[in-house]
Order: sequence, then structure tokens, then C-alpha cells
Amino acid sequence: MENERKNVIHMGNFDSMEDFLASGTPVAQYAPQTSLGAWKKLAEKAKKENPMNLRPDIAYCIVLNPDKEKETRIREEYAKLGIDTPLEIFKAVDGKNPQVNFNYNLFEGWKIRSQNDFWNREITQGEVGCALSHLSIWMTASQQGFGSVLILEEDFKVLRPWPDAEFAWPENWDWQYTMLYLGRNAVKPDKRKLTDYLVEPDYSYTTHAYLLTAAGVQRLLEQNFQNYICAVDEFLPATYTDHPRGDMDFVYQDTFCASVIDHVIGQTSNSESSTTENTDSAENYKTPSATPISKSERLYPELFDISDWEAWKKRWIHESARTKEWDLITDEPVTDVFTFPIFTKEFCEKIIQEAEHCAQWERKRHEFYPTTDMLLEKFGFDEIYHKVLVEYVYPMAKHMWQIEGSIWDDLESENFMIKYDANVQGHLSLHHDNGSISCVLALNDDFKGGGTYFWRQKKLHNGAVGHISVHPSVITHRHGGRPVEEGQRFIIVSFCNKRR
Ligand SMILES: [Fe+2]
Repeated sequence: MENERKNVIHMGNFDSMEDFLASGTPVAQYAPQTSLGAWKKLAEKAKKENPMNLRPDIAYCIVLNPDKEKETRIREEYAKLGIDTPLEIFKAVDGKNPQVNFNYNLFEGWKIRSQNDFWNREITQGEVGCALSHLSIWMTASQQGFGSVLILEEDFKVLRPWPDAEFAWPENWDWQYTMLYLGRNAVKPDKRKLTDYLVEPDYSYTTHAYLLTAAGVQRLLEQNFQNYICAVDEFLPATYTDHPRGDMDFVYQDTFCASVIDHVIGQTSNSESSTTENTDSAENYKTPSATPISKSERLYPELFDISDWEAWKKRWIHESARTKEWDLITDEPVTDVFTFPIFTKEFCEKIIQEAEHCAQWERKRHEFYPTTDMLLEKFGFDEIYHKVLVEYVYPMAKHMWQIEGSIWDDLESENFMIKYDANVQGHLSLHHDNGSISCVLALNDDFKGGGTYFWRQKKLHNGAVGHISVHPSVITHRHGGRPVEEGQRFIIVSFCNKRR
């Protein structure tokens, strides 16, 4: 992450993106081939001929290392669309040595433990260059005041001529798209059919051919994408639908996105998305071509199979816990904080992976002390975890504190996994929990720093992997999460209360 931060370029003279855009400063090393005046004239002519303005004012094609030969090929391909919208060749920002005149930062904490190969690695230089290229075009389009802009990537392939009639909007519709895919790779089934030719898409990949209206450009710029650069085809869907990675839910969903059913523009070079080339029938659009995440898909079904409860416990519950000899196995590292080993290390590693695979992280569930967390029910583990609390944790608590009454045998609990990340949200301020007792299960130890600090007791507790610690939540045990200095710390927390 440190290396990547070196890429940040400081422009210094402008306080905000708005000021920067207003200044007219070129956004990237890019020499427009057509003067602004010529563009405007062409756009006005096109509008006169086509008052519905269904054609873009300008088209940009992002090209890495453009040369004459490439440009000729691209212009020949573009001509197949049969529209007179001028085409600009936009020299792609080189991800290895990005030259842009504005500040940017990479998405912190992009790499997660996921089965999705686009998410379980750092952001690539190619993705950075590509994202900065798209962002530069949006900024340029805003500076130039275009009504609509078509954005292409150099491997685009025209599948059929520009179909004006398909973009006509039914009268009296109050829903107008601000972004329109001319081709894409649908990951999830579409939300709804808008017209005979257009759908409202759900999560989709690829950005080789899309159109933005002026409002669309403005809305994208207001997202401040420059502060969390990641693959642009991960960012764009987050502006119009729920991104499967819950940690992108801070992005405003104010893009109105439509997509042609019968793709107009496909892509030649990317095997992942080459299905767009074949999508020449209305039926194909219904078939998701890739499913990066699905709640029903489980990495380790064995964690969820409790058909033989005794066998399940033997496999995943620590042998100490299984003795239930609380006086023998329980430690009290901090006054009234009881700990004992409850799960095996293998369980802990696998449950982290299962959560990362589900990737429904949220950052705003707890109003006053927000954490990056995910309810266990999101990946179908809540009931099993409750069963374990009832069998091991509540009996231990009753015994160690000598609490009486059957009401303590089966508390109701909110169970969730927290991810502290040194780069994202590495700590939690001092607080009281919302429960009679709280449980913290440590899931990993490959991080630096971290741990639960008990303020009144003046002690830090960093549990061993698979050990659970239980403390009274109110009054006496005000506590906080010490900052994680390096890596990620995963814990499962339960707030337990008596049932009413
Ligand atoms: Fe807490």
C-alpha cells in the first residue's frame, strides 16, 4: 500500500475537484485532435438533424500507446456504427507511470479473502491506468460541456449500426437513463425490462462501450472516484445497484443505468467478456455469464452440516471446551473477563474465508460505533453459532459468575464478524456494548497491534486463535478495539441479552 501511495500526484493549487475543473486545466497528458469550436458545431448540426439528441456529441476511444496504424483500424471499426459523431483518440493513462494533473488515491482495503479473483488481489497498474483514463474523460467532458458522450475502449468491436430508434424514450416517462451500456457482461440477471430494446441492468462488468448524458457525467464526478480508485467496472455498477462487495455501499446509487438488450458494441480481446460479442439475440441477455458471489454457494459446506451434531462438535470444537470442565480450562486475564479455547484453528481459518467469500461487509450497522462487520446470518451461520453459545458459553458464564435461573440458559444474541483493517478501520473507540454479556472470539493472529482494551481494568486482551472471551457488557467493562497496525484482525462478537 505504501508503494502505491507514492503514485499520488499533488496539484497543489486547487482545493476541490470543482475548482480544478473550472480552471480548465487539462486532466491528463492528452492532446485533443479537434478544437472545441469544431466539436460544438458538429454537435449542434447533429442535434438539428436529430432533435431527440439520441446520438452522443462526442465519442472517445481510450487507446494505450496510440499510433497511426492503431488509429486507422479504430476509425475503420468506428465507421461501422454509421454515425457522424466525431471520434477522439484518448491516449490511455499509463498505469505504470500515471501522468494526471489531479490528486488520486487507491481504494484502501481492496484485497479481501475472497474466491473472486478480482477481489483477492491488490488493484493492478492496468486497472489504475484504465480507471484514471475513464475518470479523465468524464472530467474533460464536464469541462467541455458536452450533452452526451460515448466512451469506448480500444478493443471495441461494432456488432451492428447505431440503432437510433431503439433509444427513443416513451413519452411521459419520468425515468431517464444517465448511463447506457452499448455492450456489457451481465453478472446478475437484469432488474427489469424498460422498453422492447432496453433493460435496467443489475451488476455488470466491462466498460468497453457506454454512453453518459451530461447529468450522468456530473453524477459520476460527484462520487469523487479519485479518492478510491479501483477497477472502473467495479465502480460503475456501484453507482446504479448494490455492489456484491458490501464495502462499496458508501457509493451513492444515483446513476440511472440502462442497457441495450441486443448489444451494439462487443469486445475482441478480453476472453472474460467475449460473450458480449455473441449476444446478438434478446434471449442471451438473460444469462449471467459469471457469478462472482452467491450466498447459496459455500466454500466449506462441512461447516454448515450439523445433521450429526456430535460429529460436528468433534470436528470443530476445541477438545478443552468439549470437557466442559470450566474451572480447569477457563482463564481470567482481566478481572471478570473469562476466556477458554472453544474452536479449532481450522474452523477459524475457514469461517474467515466463508465470510470473505460472502463479502456482505457493512460499515453502518452500529450508529455510534460503526465497524466493518457482517452478521453471521448473512452467510447462514447464525443458528449454528447460537447452538454453540448455548452449549458452551452460557454454561461457562453461569458457572464462573454463579448466576442462577434458567433464563441464562438460552440468551438471544446478535452475532457478527468484525474486520479491523490497518488501512480502513483499524480501531474502535471506547464504549459499552448493547447486552448483558458480550463474547469476543479471536479468529486470527496474523496482524500487528489490535486487541480489546478494558479501560477501567487498564488491561489489554488479545485472545489466542479459537479462544472466546466473555465479559459483562454494561457499567464495569468499558472497552475499545486497539488500533491494528498491520494486516487484518477478524473476530466474532456476540451481544447477549435475556429473552423477554
Ligand atoms: Fe464492544
